Amino acid sequence: MENEERITAASAGENEEASEFTLRPQTLEDYIGQKKATENLKIFIEAAKLRREPLDHVLFYGPPGLGKTTLAGIIANELGVDIRITSGPAIERAGDLAAILTNLNENDVLFIDEIHRLNRSVEEVLYSAMEDFALDIIIGKGPSARSIRLDIARFTLIGATTRAGSLSAPLRDRFGVSSKFEMYTTGELKKIIRRTAGLLNVEVDEESLNEMAKRSRGTPRVANRILKRVRDFSQVKGTGKIDLAITQEAMAALGVDPMGLESLDREILRMIIERFKGGPVGIDTIAASIGEERVTIEDVYEPYLIQAGFLHRTQKGRVVSEQAYRHLGIACDDQQVELKIKE
Ligand SMILES: Nc1ncnc2c1ncn2[C@@H]1O[C@H](COP(=O)(O)OP(=O)(O)OP(=O)(O)O)[C@@H](O)[C@H]1O
Ligand SMILES: [Mg+2]
Repeated sequence: MENEERITAASAGENEEASEFTLRPQTLEDYIGQKKATENLKIFIEAAKLRREPLDHVLFYGPPGLGKTTLAGIIANELGVDIRITSGPAIERAGDLAAILTNLNENDVLFIDEIHRLNRSVEEVLYSAMEDFALDIIIGKGPSARSIRLDIARFTLIGATTRAGSLSAPLRDRFGVSSKFEMYTTGELKKIIRRTAGLLNVEVDEESLNEMAKRSRGTPRVANRILKRVRDFSQVKGTGKIDLAITQEAMAALGVDPMGLESLDREILRMIIERFKGGPVGIDTIAASIGEERVTIEDVYEPYLIQAGFLHRTQKGRVVSEQAYRHLGIACDDQQVELKIKE
């Protein structure tokens, strides 16, 4: 699939999870950025430890690759408890979830990734588990069926999702804490790349750090991936040290432009400009014109295009910004674009 090959894809590739594991920070101290999410958490963690109680259930939402799984691991680590990691689609039946829940120890963390993809019957089991730390199990069938209540260990659920809007209201309401993940600034990404370079034992100068950070689409996963690819180039074609020349050469070879856009990103912007006079155009029309699924456009391409100011979401549809025209080297009428964006 196209996305898997994109160096700037925010989602993890097939064999990437394992190598990411070793790059993951283990403590809050080491976790860079996301201050809004972490500052309060630090207090809640301390308080839970003082009371020897489980931390309240936590929901993380935001685009992929921003460090949700990483932060869940850190929370368990800081609490000094075990973490069990699973995902919405992996829990097929209510019984699967019951098995996981009955195996947790007091105060443990259960991390459910893609929690918006839990199926209904599984989700219903989760309600009483989250609220009362109990499972309601139905024994028998028909008129003789009866329900028994089974206590489970008091645990913390950490749910992660890229689409908070897809979560059912009863599930959303059962989280005591919910944190939105934001894209990282260039400064934060520089720190992340510097840290990873230290772990990988590769020398990078300041200019290159900056250059890689700017092309990372606000996403640590992309930043780490770019660093690894540039390292490959510097080892094969350069001195092994990473400087600006080798960084730019590697990025050009991989088709990542100075703003972190790849060909499909540029194609989306160009298409809106050439076929729809810069918009407004509906998301379904964009998806159809590019030959991608609507959700892929929404979850994979759009967040960064919007964050970086290339695309605006308006009531009437998507509108390309003046910055996008300039980036693509296409002439535009600034005032026209301004008006469309304000509408
Ligand atoms: N704040 C951070 N500081 C340092 N490294 C980070 C940070 N956040 C993420 N990373 C790095 O980025 C990589 C991806 O992070 P992670 O797997 O936690 O993202 P995610 O939000 O769970 O993504 P997905 O939605 O795809 O599951 C990790 O390998 C980790 O090393
Ligand atoms: Mg994850």
